[in-house]
Amino acid sequence: MSARPVTMEKITSLCKRRGFVFQSSEIYGGLASCWDYGPLGIELKRNITEAWWRDNIVAREDMVGLDSAILMHPKVWEASGHIAGFTDPLVDCKGCKQRFRADQIPGPKCPECGGELTEARQFNLMFRTFMGPVEDTASTVYLRPETAQGIFVNFQNVLNSSRLKIPFGIGQIGKSFRNEITPGNFLFRTREFEQMEMEFFVRPGDDAKWHEFWKQERFAWYRRYGIRPERLRLREHGADELAHYAKGCADVEYEFPFGWSELEGIANRGDFDLRRHSEMSGKDLSYFDEEARERFLPYVIEPSAGVGRPLLAFLVDAYDEDVAEGEERVVLRLDPRLAPIKAAVFPLLRKAGQPEKAQAIRDILKQHVAVTYDQAGSIGRRYRRQDEVGTPFGITVDHQTMQDDTVTVRDRDTMTQVRMPVDRLIDEIRARLASPAASRPAVAAGGA
Ligand code: GAP
Repeated sequence: MSARPVTMEKITSLCKRRGFVFQSSEIYGGLASCWDYGPLGIELKRNITEAWWRDNIVAREDMVGLDSAILMHPKVWEASGHIAGFTDPLVDCKGCKQRFRADQIPGPKCPECGGELTEARQFNLMFRTFMGPVEDTASTVYLRPETAQGIFVNFQNVLNSSRLKIPFGIGQIGKSFRNEITPGNFLFRTREFEQMEMEFFVRPGDDAKWHEFWKQERFAWYRRYGIRPERLRLREHGADELAHYAKGCADVEYEFPFGWSELEGIANRGDFDLRRHSEMSGKDLSYFDEEARERFLPYVIEPSAGVGRPLLAFLVDAYDEDVAEGEERVVLRLDPRLAPIKAAVFPLLRKAGQPEKAQAIRDILKQHVAVTYDQAGSIGRRYRRQDEVGTPFGITVDHQTMQDDTVTVRDRDTMTQVRMPVDRLIDEIRARLASPAASRPAVAAGGA
């Protein structure tokens, strides 16, 4: 266990070095706050979104999924309040010309050069573009700033095409865009990002109970995938922090190297959205309860997470430095279910038929899980290359393999090795992937 704190520099450097995340358009100097996921990053991202989808949609009787278009009718954003109210107060420095969010700077002067600032003006965070060849107001459309509205406008479609009864929810994963004034902290605040959102429709009066349920459920989800308890908390919003639609909200927060910050918000949106869309579209979006013979506008509980922020939290939380087999190593103690690669296969020697045997094992395992093969360098160096990207199992083909068809399996966290027959490998890996998260050492005093 390392007493050295994890820093954002260590995480960004690992991400670039090992192909998790690259700066967008890097060969042209990069595009601010936009990031590309590399070969390992996309595996990790897919594992996170698939875990969310499996746990919240597939495994629940009361949830279904949706994939709505990014471009929507402009009236959607009028109804939702985004055209009028999705703004941040913006100030410009008259000296150095930098821009800041007025509510994020400490005093009346420019925090960079001490220069005079302009009056604050409201800046709408939605990206605008034009539909069709004519660039005028009538053809203005917006890149969605949240996936949620795609769910609300499809509420009746989903209801009419399924046999769902309230309480039930609709979940969606997709891209959202916000022209943030001050993006930053790597993947934490970007202008293009992905969200995993649920809108859970309940009977008015049952909303407080369901809000509490989802707060606990979503908090527990991060714990289930291994986030250390001392770096995770649930924080209730004060009345002054609530969004225009929210009756109440709590955030799941993680203690990043730059401080406690939001991973996910769980809001009680009341009937704000369905009411506004009913009014604006003229379509009745109420629900008829057959048993109670009663019609009402459902209330909505919304657990809304990003993908980049949880991904960054999983990386930061898993990052560790220790001494393995006599050498210092970086190890990502990712939950095996989230790890980009599940197993690496190594021939101990580059001769005596061992590479061919190891490649044959790789080919069998590859049909089931993400596997890699590595024959370059000493076996210790090969283990460490995999530890650094969180690969839970290292499978080594050696002299004995050629005689009795057994291999050694090394565990990333305990570094213990067990020998087992090749034909037991896939069952063993599957069993370990189904077991609870890898245990992580407690954070060292004074550590990250
Ligand atoms: N539909 C409600 C909604 O969008 P939000 O609190 O604005 O609520 C939800 O966003 C989540 O989306 C946040 O908790 C965060 O994880 C993610 N998110 C929001 N803005 C982001 C940004 N600029 N960059 C990365 N993630 C962002």
